[in-house]
Amino acid sequence: MALLEIVKFPAPVLRKKTKPVTHFSDPKLETLISDMAQTMYAAPGVGLAANQVGLSLRLAVIDADWKEEEGKKNLRVFINPILLEKSDPVPFEEGCLSLPSLTAQTRRFNKVTVQYQDLQGTIKTLSAEGLLAVALQHETDHLDGKLYIDRLSSLKKELLIKKFKKLSEERNSSQ
Ligand code: NI
Repeated sequence: MALLEIVKFPAPVLRKKTKPVTHFSDPKLETLISDMAQTMYAAPGVGLAANQVGLSLRLAVIDADWKEEEGKKNLRVFINPILLEKSDPVPFEEGCLSLPSLTAQTRRFNKVTVQYQDLQGTIKTLSAEGLLAVALQHETDHLDGKLYIDRLSSLKKELLIKKFKKLSEERNSSQ
C-alpha cells in the first residue's frame, strides 16, 4: 500500500474525460484501488477519482459513512460508473481534495441510481441517497473532466479560483 499524490487544480489531467477500465480481476487494479483508498482516508476525504492521482481511468472510491473517531470503514469502489437516474435537487456545501481548503454551495440531487462494474467486471446498480448520492455525482463529474466549480455561476467560479490561487501562493511562501 502506498499514499499517492493528489493532483491539484488546474492540472490538465483533471480536465480530460477518463478512459473506461477494460482489464478486470487484475492485481494491478486491486493495488491501485487500495492505494487510492488509503490516500482518500489519509487526506481525509469522502471520495477520490483516479484522475485525481494522475491516472485517466474511469474509476473512483467513495466512503460516505466513515467517521475518523469511530474508525469504521465502508469503502465502495465504482468502476466505469454511469448515473442512470437523478432526483430531488438540494443545496449542498461542496469541497474537493484537488481544491483544498475551499467549499462552495452547489445544487445536487439527493437521490441517484448508478450503474457500475465491480473488480471482476460484473455490472451492478445501486440506488443512493444523501452524502453517498452527492459523492457519486461529484466523482462521476471528475471522471468526465468536470469540477464542482464548473457548476457555480461564472462570477462565483472566478472568485473561488482567485481564492485558491491566493491560498496556494501563501502555502508556497510559507514552505
Ligand atoms: Ni473532488
